[in-house]
Amino acid sequence: MERLKQAGGNWVTGDRFWGREKDISLFIERLDEGAHPLLVAQRRMGKTSLMRETARRLADRYVCLFVDLQKSWKAADAVVALSLAVHPHRTLWQKGRHLFANILSNVADRIDEVEFAELGLRLRAGLTSGNWAQKGDQLFGILAASEKPVVLLLDEVPILVSRLLKGEDFSITPQRRAETEEFMSWLRENSIRHQGQVRIVMSGSIGFEPVLRRAHLTATINNFVPFELKPWDDATAIGCLNALANEYGVRFQGDAPGRMVSRLGCNIPHHVQMFFYHAYGWCKRRDRMQFGPDDVETVYHQEMLSTRGHAELTHYEDRLKLVLGQEAFPLALEMLTEAAVTGHLTRDALAALEKYFSFPEQSTAEAQEEILRVLEHDGYLRLTESGYVFVSKLVRDWWKARYEFAFTPISQRKE
Ligand SMILES: Nc1ncnc2c1ncn2[C@@H]1O[C@H](COP(=O)(O)OP(=O)(O)O)[C@@H](O)[C@H]1O
Ligand SMILES: [Mg+2]
Repeated sequence: MERLKQAGGNWVTGDRFWGREKDISLFIERLDEGAHPLLVAQRRMGKTSLMRETARRLADRYVCLFVDLQKSWKAADAVVALSLAVHPHRTLWQKGRHLFANILSNVADRIDEVEFAELGLRLRAGLTSGNWAQKGDQLFGILAASEKPVVLLLDEVPILVSRLLKGEDFSITPQRRAETEEFMSWLRENSIRHQGQVRIVMSGSIGFEPVLRRAHLTATINNFVPFELKPWDDATAIGCLNALANEYGVRFQGDAPGRMVSRLGCNIPHHVQMFFYHAYGWCKRRDRMQFGPDDVETVYHQEMLSTRGHAELTHYEDRLKLVLGQEAFPLALEMLTEAAVTGHLTRDALAALEKYFSFPEQSTAEAQEEILRVLEHDGYLRLTESGYVFVSKLVRDWWKARYEFAFTPISQRKE
């Protein structure tokens, strides 16, 4: 019987990585063909894990550089992050010595002695809004000259792009748009220039396409091929629960794993792991390792929907605020709460909601359309015959538990 160790809150690889065999082999096939994949999926779907695990499996054939852009605010920061990712690869780093020495002019003669932590600071000081593109081009040149082809895994790209475009006050100015275009075009040009030598994977969960569309910049990613990471199917999720149970001595009774999966409604790997984490804690605290269908219900309501769930939900809210901005967020909140509380967000409800909001640059209907695009793209809602519904029952229940109080469904509101 298969066994699996729990994830522990971060991305997983190796003996903590479950399933995704077809995704990985297709992903590798695309890379082998020289494609630049755009890895899209909502948060917690396992994008980072998929990239890390793929990098692990490809280590003998490719130089895989993992670059997290979560903390990057400017294009120059991204080039710093990229430079730092090169550092552990000694041969590449050696080849890049001249370039790095050039950026690190004040320490040129002792570049190899500079501590890693200090390196970041020095690089940041040497890369400016005026020279990042040129230095970045040189860096790409070094990558392209590598003996093994390079896979550049850029994680959380939409966060950077969203910041470039909207700054801290969430407004798109002509200058910000120009800077965003410069960065995206720079990436695109390098992906074309070094085709076959350097593959670029872009990944991230917040509405990438909608953000670029709003700035009329979608053309900058048209040489990237979308690679969609879907939720696990039920068999994979149930297999995961059984493998975890084997590892930790939990004995499922009846159809407990099936019940867990149907409670979730959508097998986002992180939610499957979280359910097991609570089930295990429940067993341990009672000192009884059997876990049956009734326990599923209790743990779902008492644990999954409790404070820990609320902490998860805060992440969803923060991301939505990040991509929609403070202005549009309250409208999105109403739309999601309507869907959570009544089960559906209908066209009628959307129309009725219009009068409660106004925006300086667009009509409320336009703002709603943009929000819906983001919510669909990010996997919150999907369109059915009866209107928009939550994709994940768990996320719906979280949302409902948090906002139901003091919410009046739109159709019941008095003028
Ligand atoms: N292949 C997998 N096997 C086991 N657990 C996974 C897998 N992919 C994701 N997870 C679970 O989901 C969590 C989030 O994964 P992560 O790769 O960080 O997602 P993302 O980058 O899409 O937000 C992990 O901590 C783990 O609990
Ligand atoms: Mg991630």
